[in-house]
Amino acid sequence: KLPEGFHYVEGQSLSVIPPGVDPKNGRKNKPRLYSIASTRYGDLLDGNTISLCVRRAEFIEPDGTKDPAKQGVCSNFLCDVKAGDEVDVAGPVGKTMLLPEDPNKDIIMIATGTGIAPFRGFLHRLFMENTLAKHMFGGNAWLVLGVPVSGGLLYKEEFECMQRTSSPGKLKIDYAISREMTNTIDGGKLYVQHVIAQNGKELFDRLDAGAHVYFCGLKGMMPPILETLEEVAKSQGCVWNEKLSE
Ligand code: A2P
Repeated sequence: KLPEGFHYVEGQSLSVIPPGVDPKNGRKNKPRLYSIASTRYGDLLDGNTISLCVRRAEFIEPDGTKDPAKQGVCSNFLCDVKAGDEVDVAGPVGKTMLLPEDPNKDIIMIATGTGIAPFRGFLHRLFMENTLAKHMFGGNAWLVLGVPVSGGLLYKEEFECMQRTSSPGKLKIDYAISREMTNTIDGGKLYVQHVIAQNGKELFDRLDAGAHVYFCGLKGMMPPILETLEEVAKSQGCVWNEKLSE
């Protein structure tokens, strides 16, 4: 349950302050930011809850043992909280991931792992909740989600329900299940950047028509994604740096 007067919108983040001190410097644990995975109304639709998508971060040594000193402080704290526990939070923060003001723009969402969080909020707002936002959404949505194994396809049933209940083609979803699928470029693991490369023309056509593109997930995905976009740009006869600043 949220504190009174706490309001957020889709695409913002929540700051969570884990209890305790950092053994390295004796100072209070620092806050961690989590993308919010629900809409402003929350999953109970009463505006009093907030949803996060948290994966426990563990560090497993080459010999298979877990090193507790290297495990994620906040993710482990959140994964272990019990119903009814109080959690210190602050925020909401962030405005770079907000939905476009123009409801007729396409949105393209590229995510890895728990990076799906803000896009679940977007998709609930645009395809699920019966509000003006859903009825006014005149664009198309395209989600590219990368996960290691199909068991990690979070919210799959919700997204399938959205596809079933919306006009054909309005919500396109491509999964890159890295350890179960291979790419057509070098036959190796399928990552989100390979999906981009395989659909380069469509992506650029959509961007040219004013689509907004969002990225959320592993930091390491950005360099290969940017390289891929540069290659696609070249093959389309345009200069990536100009396109990027657009
Ligand atoms: P893999 O772990 O098979 O190499 P999670 O955060 O749940 O582990 O999921 C992250 C997903 O992103 C996995 O499928 C992972 O593949 C994949 N991934 C790892 N590194 C990169 C990268 N540099 N670019 C794109 N995807 C990546």
